[in-house]
Amino acid sequence: MDSINAAADILAASEYAIALTGAGLSAESGIPTFRGQDGLWTKYGQPSNLSYRAFSQDPQGWWERRLSDEDTPGNPTYDLKDAVDNAVPNPGHLAVAELETMGVVKSVITQNVDGLHSRAGSRNLLEIHGNRSYLRCISCGSRKPRATYIISDLPPVCPRCGGIIKMDTVMFGEPIPSATLEACSAEVQRCDAMLLVGTSGAVSPAAQFPLLARERGARIIEVNPVPTQLTPAAHVVVSGPAGEVMPSLAHAIRTRAIRSR
Ligand code: APR
Repeated sequence: MDSINAAADILAASEYAIALTGAGLSAESGIPTFRGQDGLWTKYGQPSNLSYRAFSQDPQGWWERRLSDEDTPGNPTYDLKDAVDNAVPNPGHLAVAELETMGVVKSVITQNVDGLHSRAGSRNLLEIHGNRSYLRCISCGSRKPRATYIISDLPPVCPRCGGIIKMDTVMFGEPIPSATLEACSAEVQRCDAMLLVGTSGAVSPAAQFPLLARERGARIIEVNPVPTQLTPAAHVVVSGPAGEVMPSLAHAIRTRAIRSR
């Protein structure tokens, strides 16, 4: 409990705390993480950093494989789709949203593409790796819910500019859409506290955010059952599953707020 109180002290005293979340936050919603035991990349291998180039060179072939994989068990696309389609926000997501409602967390940068933060009520949300339920035009950048788009011809083309449409999810080797990256960088530059929840810190640029914030004097809190590459940068480490730690953290901050009235 000491680490939760220490984390609550930091967040309660912060002027502009933000959260950076990863797949571990959705693990208790039944969505597999990518690394570690039972991770999708552990099971199937991590996609190549040439994935986006391969898409660009043959978008039709990419879409044909994608649509087939979505319906065929035994690949990471199927496993992730099956898990996300059946997932609901867990107490960890709800606690992050409550911290935003309390005015403690000002924004959430998530690496997750599952949409569970929005469903939990988070509003000031930056999905740095996109959202799997959206499509995005690689020419004009326009995004639309996949459910509103009938995918007939492959590759699908943008009704606005005729550009090629891909999944909104950022692929390995694909640049983060500039507007999203700029917005994330602005939050990292502004924050005086960063709450890391369920990320291994394995993928940049997100993995650099805590280091950049710490260099500026921000206080870093990590919530994770095990140590990660980011643990050395954390001022406070709360070891445990987000679905248990985050509600306790929100409760600790809520009781401080009540006492201080
Ligand atoms: N609560 C909190 N953390 C957890 C839990 C849990 N219940 N279960 C697992 N974790 C932690 C693991 O210990 C690990 O540190 O979540 C982290 C998951 O790490 P990754 O699987 O690497 O996921 P993430 O950090 O989000 O990966 C970043 O890599 O492949 C890309 O696009 C993918 O967005 C993803 C990015």
